[in-house]
Amino acid sequence: MSATVEETTELAPRLPADNLRRAVRIGICGLGTVGSGTVNVMARNGEEIAARCGRPVEIVQVGARRDNAACDTSKLNVTREIFDVADNPDVDILVELIGGTTVARELVLAAINNGKHIVTANKALIAEHGNELFAAAAEKGVTIAYEAAVAGGIPIIKSLREGLVGNRIQWLAGIINGTGNYILTEMRDKGRSFAEALAQAQELGYAEADPTFDVEGIDAAHKLVIMASLAFAMPLAFDKVYTEGISGVSSEDIRYADELGYRIKHLGIARRTEHGVELRVHPTLIPQRRLIANVNGVMNAVLVNGDAVGPTLYYGAGAGAEATASAVIADIVDVARTLEAKPDQRVPAAGVAEGSQAGPQVLPMDEVVTSYYLRISAHDKPGVMSQVAKICSDQGISIEALIQHEPAEGEALVPVVILTSRAKEARLREAVAQIEALDTVEGEVVRIRVETLG
Ligand SMILES: NC(=O)c1ccc[n+]([C@@H]2O[C@H](COP(=O)([O-])OP(=O)(O)OC[C@H]3O[C@@H](n4cnc5c(N)ncnc54)[C@H](OP(=O)(O)O)[C@@H]3O)[C@@H](O)[C@H]2O)c1
Repeated sequence: MSATVEETTELAPRLPADNLRRAVRIGICGLGTVGSGTVNVMARNGEEIAARCGRPVEIVQVGARRDNAACDTSKLNVTREIFDVADNPDVDILVELIGGTTVARELVLAAINNGKHIVTANKALIAEHGNELFAAAAEKGVTIAYEAAVAGGIPIIKSLREGLVGNRIQWLAGIINGTGNYILTEMRDKGRSFAEALAQAQELGYAEADPTFDVEGIDAAHKLVIMASLAFAMPLAFDKVYTEGISGVSSEDIRYADELGYRIKHLGIARRTEHGVELRVHPTLIPQRRLIANVNGVMNAVLVNGDAVGPTLYYGAGAGAEATASAVIADIVDVARTLEAKPDQRVPAAGVAEGSQAGPQVLPMDEVVTSYYLRISAHDKPGVMSQVAKICSDQGISIEALIQHEPAEGEALVPVVILTSRAKEARLREAVAQIEALDTVEGEVVRIRVETLG
């Protein structure tokens, strides 16, 4: 039975009755990589998008400091002042694609205050200011959609919010930074050092001139915390994510991992435990037989384990102009479809009632339990292994696998590589401190966590 205009109008505080099928009017702020991709895909696929949306989607204004040769804005209304878009009464949805957290936060708050819905690709903004923004949006009865903020074109936010909604999510693990994954893939496939692979990534435009956000795991931590908030119905807790980058991963460790049947990937992991939620980003050994271990180059993938569905894997381009535009447009259509629904009848944007501090606690890293890969530089003398084994055993840690090669010609030190049983982080740290203090051991012990993801 179709609703009458009067009935529908009751559910449509934001669209006048005579306008129910009028175009949805969007304002795009930022005309860089994603902004220009969005303009191009909208122009190319406008008819399909309108058909799926049930009404045309019209770009009524673009806020950009300068033109971008990657897209044609000659027929669009362009302003050099992005706050004009937030104030434009003709804009229903403001699409924030400027990046950063300062001006972007002000822009989004101004638009929300003016009753506009928000679509953003900005993971830093959501991860760091999402709790505040969701609270402001809830107050104004508008939606914030952020599919493009995590894993670019992969619809992982929609999967968590909708497709997997019947599940209790046990854990999720993702390769969610393409630059890092490219570097680790180059190191493994071509035997390059970290520095060489990074330089190559910069040359190809995969890494920024300042690569800190990517290689030190901050970008992945932003994305992880967003996924965790949806998976575990908790507020965004960016400051509680344990974050370790890939700059310490060596080609040697990649080779030993191979020898043991593992790949080293930079993972964002969120896991529900009895005592709280683990939130951590770090290099991880994962068995080569897992599909996710074979996600290479700049591609992204997220493995989500729900109690009903079991493991599900989402794979695709995590960045790029049009791949990200795909997610931005999905959000625009999503918001447009819900314009007739009352705010409380929409799929919630955040994992918890907006602004609430409810939800599980984040587990301190010392309490996290994992297996470990350890590489010890030991003198080639008898008794080293029994000392190491005793230290581990005193901490309740057993040695599950070991590689020890002959020392290289003229070398006094031998690398001893160990895979441990699962142990609490604090115990492992104590064992490593004692191993490093041995006379027979030189320098720091390399440690990389191991996950079976089974
Ligand atoms: N690139 C990707 O593949 C990708 C993937 C997923 C998510 N994202 C996210 O998408 C957002 C945009 O990324 P991007 O790669 O498109 O960045 P970008 O290429 O640097 O584009 C950003 C654009 O915003 C403009 N801008 C910044 N501040 C402005 C201001 N105050 N007023 C007007 N214009 C302003 C910049 O103008 P100027 O050129 O004048 O500085 C630039 O054109 C970021 O939040 C990013 O994290 C990107």
